[in-house]
Amino acid sequence: MTHKNTELLDRVAALTKQLNHHSQQYYVLDNPEIPDAEYDRLFRELQALESENPELKKVDSPTQRVGGTPLDAFTQVTHRIPMLSLSNVFNEKELQDFYKRVRDRLKTEDEIEFTAEPKLDGLALSLMYEKGILVRAATRGDGTVGENVTENARTIRNVPLHLVGDDIPDLLEVRGEVFMSKAVFEKLNQKARENDEKTFVNPRNAAAGSLRQLDSKIAASRQLSMYCYAVGVVEGFELHATHSEMLKQLGQWGLPLCPDVDVVQSASGCQKFYEKIGKKRDSLSYDIDGVVYKVNDLKLQQQLGFVARSPRWATAHKFPAQEEMTTVNAIEFQVGRTGAITPVARLEPVFVGGVTVSNATLHNMDEIRRMDVRVGDKVIVHRAGDVIPKVVSVVPGTRKENSVEVAIPVVCPVCGSDVVQEEDEAVARCSGGLYCHAQRKEGIKHFASRRAMDIDGLGDKLVEQLVDEKLIDHIDDLYQLKNKIDEISAMERMGKKSVDNLISSLEKSKLTTLPRFIFALGIREVGEVTAASLANYFGDIELLKQADEEALINIDDVGPIVASRVVTFFNQSHNIEVVDKLIAAGIHWPAIEKKSEDELPLVGLSFVVTGTLSTMGRNDAKQLLIDKGAKVVGSVSKKTSYVVVGENPGSKATKAEELGIEILDEASFIEFIK
Ligand code: IVH
Repeated sequence: MTHKNTELLDRVAALTKQLNHHSQQYYVLDNPEIPDAEYDRLFRELQALESENPELKKVDSPTQRVGGTPLDAFTQVTHRIPMLSLSNVFNEKELQDFYKRVRDRLKTEDEIEFTAEPKLDGLALSLMYEKGILVRAATRGDGTVGENVTENARTIRNVPLHLVGDDIPDLLEVRGEVFMSKAVFEKLNQKARENDEKTFVNPRNAAAGSLRQLDSKIAASRQLSMYCYAVGVVEGFELHATHSEMLKQLGQWGLPLCPDVDVVQSASGCQKFYEKIGKKRDSLSYDIDGVVYKVNDLKLQQQLGFVARSPRWATAHKFPAQEEMTTVNAIEFQVGRTGAITPVARLEPVFVGGVTVSNATLHNMDEIRRMDVRVGDKVIVHRAGDVIPKVVSVVPGTRKENSVEVAIPVVCPVCGSDVVQEEDEAVARCSGGLYCHAQRKEGIKHFASRRAMDIDGLGDKLVEQLVDEKLIDHIDDLYQLKNKIDEISAMERMGKKSVDNLISSLEKSKLTTLPRFIFALGIREVGEVTAASLANYFGDIELLKQADEEALINIDDVGPIVASRVVTFFNQSHNIEVVDKLIAAGIHWPAIEKKSEDELPLVGLSFVVTGTLSTMGRNDAKQLLIDKGAKVVGSVSKKTSYVVVGENPGSKATKAEELGIEILDEASFIEFIK
């Protein structure tokens, strides 16, 4: 062998070793040691060497994970040991019956030990390792004959292409579940929605569809995962005594295991595990549809044996289904507190996710159009945990003949104002703003809040009460409350003193500042900073009312989106009416003196204030900066000029350090402001 060849071989071997190590760290142990970019660099180097020297490419090379030439069809694989299914129990009583059957059959009164595992909601896969090398992967199929999906399985990043560690069997078949994590599923569907493509109904369907792709490059792009839960054929290795020890052994060979597996005693231990996982279910990164109990002792498993197509030594304890099919009786549109218009399906009541559901969200107008859901359709409804039930898909072929497309409303169903949908947004909104009843409670709360009109004693609860009692409808009604003292006094928890305080706070709030007033109107996207810029630029509410987008875009800090929101707001005659009434009620502010440039020394600089300051509140500090022309933002980025850091600052300070942004402690901040 030439010198060059040995060098090449060594390099390929070294790269293979490094890549295998790092992908084990990353995908199996969740503990990456090098940046992704470094991994990619090593990966591309190996890929290049292999394509120049195809004879060096091994079946277990890490480059195999990106997929290869598409297949025409899958070949069939006959499982040497059939892949069985599990019996089910649906409640504690059935679990106790299962436990009793196990003890009766074993003729024992002793407590039985189980492994308790999440029941992963994906699809079963069998992996065959010959002398530690992954040689074949097969789906369960009908349990006896499955499909050869080796090419696709190789693309699953946490499936080892070869085993590591000691005592590797001559032949080892491991079985487990292939699934798509919730995060990957959401990302994939998000992308599909953006491209107006069909979405997957749930992570299980997505995983199944991906694993059965004839084109392994597509499978690779789907980012599947696998957790192993059983051993099939084994040759040249003495099994350990228990299932839990076997799982541990699989882990030592580098096979991925579910992190939430436990060993428990008797039916009560199983039930406890079920409840614990049930509580954790929503926060798990993967979907499950129950838990599985397996007698831990392999000898006992053998004694128990099988009945029909499932083992007597295991059972699945199922959670209530999170998906059911039902019929759409009507589609209505609700207006949320920010004006967002949400289509809602009224459903034939259906038991799903543990409750009876008769309404489900259809998200937004784009979703309606994409799914083309219609009254009379059969749909799949999903309800997980406390999450709002949602319609995930229309069942194909169930459409009634005379059904019609859903008409998207052009005016708000609550107040009749125009419905607007910005180009970059999926959500359609009512433009009624302050006028729309659906939005008024939140609008009034915002108006009264400390950083807006600062109406002391008018908290959220009181706003709700006043609206519910029909004493106020819109923000301008607040200033008429002084004529309704008797009615307010009649309300719960409103003594004379509270009423007096409320009225005097309202009077006091009439003297405000123009920035506060603009902010208080609750125009979308107009926060305190933007309100201050608008006030400073126009100096007067009348000019702001008439401003067009062109004029607005001229202002520092105002982009096209904000400009269009401001124009939309003042284009609604209802909003103008409310503003005029407020001013007529006596709201006023000192005239704005446009500041000269030397009074605004911080123009163009951007600040973040974090942590607790000892000599002033955080908002005071922000105000000081804004008054001097600075921009104050909520999160640290490369564009941030300074970060003001008080006590216990948290992650923003760390981020500033990472990005090398200048940090001011309280003392230097005060010095700086002077
Ligand atoms: S053990 C003989 N353990 O459930 C028992 N199965 O209904 C073999 N599943 O086809 C299965 N999580 O796809 C086992 N921790 C787990 C599981 C699990 C999910 C699936 C598997 C199997 C089906 C049986």
